Amino acid sequence: MDELQFIRLGVDDPRDEEFDCGNNDLNEFFFEDSKGNSRELLAVTYAWNLNGKTIAFFSVSNDAIKSQDVENYNQFKKFLPHRKRYKSIPAVKIGRFAVHKDFRQSGYGTKILDFIKIWFVTNNKTGCRFIVVDALAEALPFYEKNINNDDKNKPIRLMYFDLKFVSPVNYK
Ligand SMILES: CC(C)(COP(=O)(O)OP(=O)(O)OC[C@H]1O[C@@H](n2cnc3c(N)ncnc32)[C@H](O)[C@@H]1OP(=O)(O)O)[C@@H](O)C(=O)NCCC(=O)NCCS
Repeated sequence: MDELQFIRLGVDDPRDEEFDCGNNDLNEFFFEDSKGNSRELLAVTYAWNLNGKTIAFFSVSNDAIKSQDVENYNQFKKFLPHRKRYKSIPAVKIGRFAVHKDFRQSGYGTKILDFIKIWFVTNNKTGCRFIVVDALAEALPFYEKNINNDDKNKPIRLMYFDLKFVSPVNYK
């Protein structure tokens, strides 16, 4: 049976040398820049391994949705209690995300996003209401299927997902 593993990549943890997502910047981030990001506490990178081979990675950081980021900020606050208090809303940002070029279009990207959504509402240590992504143009069709969106005319668009929709607290 296939073995899936989810691994936190620290500064000194080896990266799978055969990983290739077909995008030089993202490959460089996986092999090199992710180490500096980890060292400086700026982002944490995780590998998704299938039978010992990295088929995807993503990096996450703390973030927030601020009024200057979006034109419709009041919509974001609409369902919050005491909403006038919130000058920003806590979020987690997916900074980098890539699937190995040989494993694309097989549902792994969707599975990993679904995993991240549940992961951040399960026993979360800090308040985190949204997932946000600065989506590259070529990845827009993918995110449009998996995450809500905004800023339709910008080359890099802020995409977001409200974690309240998957929070177990909804059902209590
Ligand atoms: C974007 C990416 C992470 C998607 O991962 P994936 O495993 O290929 O996605 P999935 O197989 O789960 O696809 C989900 C849906 O999105 C669609 N999709 C995925 N990538 C797409 C693309 N580049 N263009 C159009 N549609 C795409 C799939 O066809 C599928 O649609 P369906 O459910 O109707 O069949 C992957 O293509 C990738 O690593 N791209 C290069 C790096 C990149 O752009 N990263 C994002 C940086 S913001």
